[in-house]
Parts: sequence; structure tokens; C-alpha cells
Amino acid sequence: MIETNRVRVALAERSYDVVIGSRLLEDAGALIAAALGPTRRLAVVTDGAVAATQLPRFLASQDRTPPVLTLPAGETTKSWTHLQQVVEWLLALPADRKTVVVALGGGVVGDLAGFAAAITLRGLDVVQIPTTLLSQVDSSVGGKTAINAAAGKNLVGAFHQPMLVLADIDCLGTLPPRDLRSGYAEAVKHAVINDAAFFDWLCQHGPRALAGDAEVLERIVRHSVATKAAIVAADEREADARALLNLGHTFGHALEAETGFGDQLRHGEAVAIGMGLALDLSAVLLGCPTDAAQRLRSHLRAVGLPTTMAEVDGAPFDPDRLLAHMQHDKKTANGALTFVLATDIGAAKVVKAVDPAIVRSILAA
Ligand code: GLY
Repeated sequence: MIETNRVRVALAERSYDVVIGSRLLEDAGALIAAALGPTRRLAVVTDGAVAATQLPRFLASQDRTPPVLTLPAGETTKSWTHLQQVVEWLLALPADRKTVVVALGGGVVGDLAGFAAAITLRGLDVVQIPTTLLSQVDSSVGGKTAINAAAGKNLVGAFHQPMLVLADIDCLGTLPPRDLRSGYAEAVKHAVINDAAFFDWLCQHGPRALAGDAEVLERIVRHSVATKAAIVAADEREADARALLNLGHTFGHALEAETGFGDQLRHGEAVAIGMGLALDLSAVLLGCPTDAAQRLRSHLRAVGLPTTMAEVDGAPFDPDRLLAHMQHDKKTANGALTFVLATDIGAAKVVKAVDPAIVRSILAA
């Protein structure tokens, strides 16, 4: 049986709980009332896939049926058009300052509805109910909200912390295996950042998570959320420590940009490949033991994630094009390349002004 656990994200007056457990959607009405008060009106934003699988469970927890906006599933929904649609829908309800936006879905719904909540009536409260592994271990926690722009992914957004996050492990049972694997990569990232013991635990138990073992999945979500909550509490706005959460993302983002941010390469798959490349670069720049990259890749392979660029449709990729994508990344400051590297698994650090020629040699290897 899965116990219900709470992880506190400690941000002074913006502190909130991430509740992790089973049957949380069935209890959502009571959990939201306990955290925000019993009289708040809800406005639910979801997508077509989640509306079919999880929405009925959520609605059954409500005394009064709240209004629901169902958007198309998929990354293209994180757009200006759909942002406008959500905001206009909220205003037409009409929402008031006490309305609570409930983001029921994966990272796309969480980012879009969170951003709409941040700007409607100068800021509405939001409850995040992440339904994918990726959004449970990462994107629903920490308050980053955004849409995509023509110039790139997540370039228009706001920090807007939720009032509550409900991570219901039961939602993961209906996920396609590829989505589960993609989210798992972000959990491995948390281990590689600062927890070698968690990495060893994942090597032993991770394959059971990918086979759908709910207890292992719960432990992975709880551990990842605790890691992320501590980092966000220390550095909410990514001035410093929060940048560690970008491990594998500079390489990964370049590959995603080169493959068009689509189904060819999922975000978590790009992060899996990117983490291996970051450890290769760490071996050159920080003397990270070469067996760290080997251990990482062997675990990622064991759970069915890609570990090399050669496995991605469209390979081989031009190193200079990948480097150019890195120069345009929003995390690049004044053209200087910044990477999250590691002296070993569990010991990541931010390294600035990395020589592009060395990065190119890793990409060309
Ligand atoms: N996903 C990285 C962050 O929330 O900072």
C-alpha cells in the first residue's frame, strides 16, 4: 500500500505542500479545501487525453461541478493562442480574485495554465495536479510557468508558485511507456546532481518503476520532489543553485532544437543523452571518473532510454549546428557557454565560460 507523504517547498509566505500518494484525485476536493479554504471556486484546465482518463476521478471529488476547459494535448498547445484562450475563458466565467485555477495534466497544461493564472487579474492562485511522471518529479514543483515563442521554448513566462501540488501516483498507470521513461530521466537527473546513494538505488529498483510498480514510482517521485524542493527553497529564481536542475539540458536542448521539439526526440530522452555528454565533458574539464558516464549510460540503457546521439532519428548531427543552438539558449549569458558538470555522480556544479572548441570535440566524438 502507498502511504501519503507531504514535501514542503519552503518559500516564506509562498510556501506550499506537495502531496504524494495514491487516490489523491478522489480526495482532491478535501485536500484543496484544507489548503485553500472551503469556499473557493475552482476553474479546471486540462487536455483531451487527461479529460478522458483522470478528469472524472477529480470531478467525483467535488461537491459542485467546476467549469472545465479542455485543450488539445501536445506541446503546440503552449502557445500565445491557447494562452489567450485560457485567459479569456477565465475572464468570461467570470473569475474573480478568489478563483483557483486547477492545472490537471502534464507539463504542457501545468506550464500554460500556471502562466494564465499568473497574469489573469494580476495573479490567481493555482493548484497543480500533475498527471505524468515528468510533471510529478519536476515541472509542477518550483513555480516555473511559460509558453513557447517563435524564438524558442519557454521564452515567455513567469515564476508563479502553486498553492498546492497533488502528485497522484495512480495517474501514472495510464501513461504510455515512452512517456514514463521520459519522465524517469528527470528523476535520474536529480540523483546525478547531488545524491549518489539515490543513483545506486535507482540502478537497483528503477526498472521496476518502468514496469509500473506503484511503490517504486512513489518513492522516486517523493525523492525527486524533496531534492527539487530543497534546491528551489535555496534559490527560487535560478540565480545560483537552481541552475543545477539544468544538468543535461544544454546538450539536450540543442538536440531538441535540431530535431524540432517534436516526437522524434522527447524532452526526457534529450536529457538522458545530454547527461551522458555532460559527464563526458566533465571528464575532460573536471577529471570526473570516466566510469561515471559509463555507469550512467548503462543504467539509462537498462530502462530503455537512448544514451547516444546516434540513436536519434536524423543522426548524425552537425556539431556546429548544435553549438549554434547552445549559443541561442536562454541560459547562455553574453555568448559564454555555461554547463552543469559533475566531479562524479552525485556531485554536480555549474561551470561558466566553457571553451566552445572543447564542447565541439565532445559533440564530434
Ligand atoms: N526544470 C528546471 C527547474 O524547474 O528549474
